[in-house]
Amino acid sequence: MRETLFTNISQLVTPAPGVQRGAAMRDLTVIPDAAMLVSGGVIHWVGPRAEAPGTAQEHDLGGVAVVPGLTDPHAHAVWAGNRLADFEARISGVPYEEILARGGGIRSSMRATGAAGVEELVALARPRLEALRTSGATTVEVKSGYGLDFDAELRMLYAIRELQSEFQLVPTLLIHVPPTEGRAEYVQAVCHDLIPAVAREELATAVDVFTEREAFTVDETRAILQAAKAHGLQTKLHADQFHAIGGTELACELGALSVDHLEASGPAQIAALAASNTVATILPGVTLHLGLPAAPGRALIDAGAAVAVGTDLNPGSSPVFSAGLALALAVRLCRLTPAEALTASTVNAAVALGLSDRGALTPGQRADFLTLHSPDWRDLPYTLGTNPVQSVFVGGIRL
Ligand code: NIG
Ligand code: FE
Repeated sequence: MRETLFTNISQLVTPAPGVQRGAAMRDLTVIPDAAMLVSGGVIHWVGPRAEAPGTAQEHDLGGVAVVPGLTDPHAHAVWAGNRLADFEARISGVPYEEILARGGGIRSSMRATGAAGVEELVALARPRLEALRTSGATTVEVKSGYGLDFDAELRMLYAIRELQSEFQLVPTLLIHVPPTEGRAEYVQAVCHDLIPAVAREELATAVDVFTEREAFTVDETRAILQAAKAHGLQTKLHADQFHAIGGTELACELGALSVDHLEASGPAQIAALAASNTVATILPGVTLHLGLPAAPGRALIDAGAAVAVGTDLNPGSSPVFSAGLALALAVRLCRLTPAEALTASTVNAAVALGLSDRGALTPGQRADFLTLHSPDWRDLPYTLGTNPVQSVFVGGIRL
């Protein structure tokens, strides 16, 4: 088995493995002048260089900092068309929700994506996923949700499946916005046709719903999530983006993996998340791009919740192609400390996808890690506008 001792690491920085909540999100281990032994794609030992086991072939990393590979737990990387006209309209004052209510926004991406074939979707998504990986994301969740009909939803999921041979992806079926007519029949068909088909073909590991005034009600969401659970799929939600209509409370009640967005969450939603095992995923790129209030990241951690950070890469609300930038924005916009932001983008983001084998540089974890351009890991949350990540290793192999 291939065994490598990575040496000349100025700082090896890691949270503890598994979910970290509240103040524990700040507990990083920082080992100066470190080494890391990797065998078969898995970490076997980390510690000071002077104490390293002396058998393996050495790989000198050049005196820079090493952090775990990031997980992006929320990305809509598959879409066709663009939203450049929406962008201009919003900048001149038309709200995102109004564009959606007029049949634009998400619905315009659905028209373009619904007209694209699988190979076109693969070709469009590939450079976006490459950009995310270059930014430090070694694992990325990718959603469907721009399908105009069920066939188009399945084409999006087939595109994601094809891209899984090139990237570590976690596919999610997103039930995004209801049709303008026949929404009760649509929800029925999602529960009785689409979810069973997706589960049967193992095209997704979770089902997500956009619970919002312009999208699905809490009752519709409950029916969809219960169907998902009945077919052995995990659940998650887009909730409290514009209005806190009860999606977060529902997700906590049903044991969802995560609730994502939370810009409109107040004390009741923060308390529900803090009392649950559901991860609170914040998406600061949306705050930047839509000019929305920021999700209450600081208050969530102070209340004891487990917070994750995602890019929400999508054409309408967050054209953020960098997991490192999302991490850096969480510090500025949601008031996470740099240490909390690293934990939110690594172990907690992985747990938001149901994964506990990655995100920490400790024995038994996947050897997915990043070298930075700097000897000090804090250049990762600090840097804006240029990539602080020097190289990306997946399973101990440099990409
Ligand atoms: O996470 N808010 C709902 N869905 C996406 C946006 C999708 C779009 O605007 O195309 C989000 O923000
Ligand atoms: Fe989203």
